[in-house]
Amino acid sequence: MTAKIIDGKGIAEQVKEELGPAIKSLGERGIIPGLAAVIVGDDPASKTYVAMKERACDRLGINSFVHRLPEETTESELLALVQDLNTDDKIHGILVQMPVPDHIDSNKILDAIAQAKDVDGFSADSLGKIMSGREYFVPATPLGVMVLLERSGIDPSGKHAVIVGRSNIVGKPLANLLMQKKQGANATVTICHSRTPDVSVFTRQADILIAAIGVPGYIKADMVKPGAVIIDVGINSVDDPTKKRGYRLVGDVDFDAVSEVASAITPVPKGVGPMTIAMLMSNVVKAAENGL
Ligand SMILES: NC(=O)c1ccc[n+]([C@@H]2O[C@H](COP(=O)([O-])OP(=O)(O)OC[C@H]3O[C@@H](n4cnc5c(N)ncnc54)[C@H](OP(=O)(O)O)[C@@H]3O)[C@@H](O)[C@H]2O)c1
Repeated sequence: MTAKIIDGKGIAEQVKEELGPAIKSLGERGIIPGLAAVIVGDDPASKTYVAMKERACDRLGINSFVHRLPEETTESELLALVQDLNTDDKIHGILVQMPVPDHIDSNKILDAIAQAKDVDGFSADSLGKIMSGREYFVPATPLGVMVLLERSGIDPSGKHAVIVGRSNIVGKPLANLLMQKKQGANATVTICHSRTPDVSVFTRQADILIAAIGVPGYIKADMVKPGAVIIDVGINSVDDPTKKRGYRLVGDVDFDAVSEVASAITPVPKGVGPMTIAMLMSNVVKAAENGL
């Protein structure tokens, strides 16, 4: 079997294109959706992610306001900035790029973002709403995975979805979304993590296998049930002297070998990554519309 490649990049383009009419209609009322991104310190990956989000905003006609703060920024200074952004009418969505330096309590910061502007959906309120099936803003990566499945004609209903990874930003919200009692969900969900004694016992049962681990090529072909759908959330950079920049991006799945066993698979890059950006943009537009 050679798996169908799920075109995350193409689906993400569609999602962004579909935002056009809403952005235009907001513009006719004199509203330009505005996203404030706050980055503390010099983490290179964070800088890259924020730059990608800025570019996506520019392309769609969303205003982006990036606040680059030094590593030594205190928790109270960051909280004060979040409070200012909460009351700034030009700003409809606020994201604080994670990780923040260790001397700052990230939960305190995330919970300080006004619910109506929490477009990353990482606050306890937003995550709690997902758990109770009353989603408001859903974190962009899990939302992107749900949209990828839907638009690829893959219905999780009655399927066994196995997620490897239990982070608050991917694994946990995604598990909740997949198990909701509603159309496009209704899966039986298992979550594995680093304390799961033999992850392959579970992955081999998966009709839909989602890898959100952060370990390059972790999911091997013999861990996959023939015909399974594979969603690779991982983004890992591995050294590659043949590339001009000296590295390349790979997922958590051994793509070539697993493609021979699975029925459908997302590539890395051009899989879940572009969906994350598209769904963030969608959340910002929704925030601006909610404010009407
Ligand atoms: N495509 C996108 O847009 C996007 C967005 C976000 C993240 N990512 C990528 O997705 C990956 C995961 O991100 P994250 O933020 O969720 O990471 P994270 O917070 O580091 O969580 C990783 C999860 O994987 C589990 N894990 C680690 N090693 C394992 C092992 N050997 N066996 C079983 N489980 C293991 C961890 O278990 P414990 O909980 O026990 O430690 C944890 O639950 C990363 O590569 C990240 O770059 C991509």
